[in-house]
Amino acid sequence: MLDLHTHVIPAVDDGSDSIGTSLSMLRTAREDGVTVVAATPHFDRASGYANYAYDELESSFLRLKYEAEGMGVRLVRGMEIMADEDVPDLLDEGLLWTLGGTKYFLTEFRFEEDPEYCMRYLGLCLGRGYMPVIAHPERYMFIQRDPQIAYRWCRTGCGLQINRGSLLGRFGEQARLTAMRLISHGLAALVSSDAHGTHRRTARLADARDLVSEEFGGDFAHLLFTRNPSRILEGKELLGFEPFPFN
Ligand SMILES: [Fe+2]
Repeated sequence: MLDLHTHVIPAVDDGSDSIGTSLSMLRTAREDGVTVVAATPHFDRASGYANYAYDELESSFLRLKYEAEGMGVRLVRGMEIMADEDVPDLLDEGLLWTLGGTKYFLTEFRFEEDPEYCMRYLGLCLGRGYMPVIAHPERYMFIQRDPQIAYRWCRTGCGLQINRGSLLGRFGEQARLTAMRLISHGLAALVSSDAHGTHRRTARLADARDLVSEEFGGDFAHLLFTRNPSRILEGKELLGFEPFPFN
């Protein structure tokens, strides 16, 4: 499996607090059958995480990449980029990390956001040739109320990334139900851990994969946990069945 959403770089956001925690997270991932991990620190200036692709972040990444290799895990670059209208310029300038250096990048919205703002932002990014992968749409209140918004995102070509914890009910019943609804409507491209540490939000994926496999079949679980994330890192188009609307 590949895990394209983790806060595994130490001491740069609300994820891993030390190199020891980071190594423990990678060990957990490997034990669970994960062989490729994207390190996706928050880029969210309003929350104090101004993680630009500068030398300091690069060297933390390279150190962890070296350690990961020793465990049989390939670490690749990424960021969880909070939506902002200057993101396309920052991507063009190479100041933000896309997923594995491809046109795909992980992005997120505030839990309450104006759907028109979201669409304008996604349009700006797509217009520059970037492919947004939207982190945990099932956790946004405006998507829980109106999942049709996620259908429109999908139709523009964006990928939707579901959190493992949402499927397990860790973010409440609304997030769990919305995750299942998005998957069953053909809107989910991949599932990732969004791991923040070694206790609550861990780097495991096998339990969520088994759950998806039981509900939707093994081939479909393979698509969401292995095949689509691989295709993202190869810069290839996402696969899945034709999405269908909610109303
Ligand atoms: Fe995250």
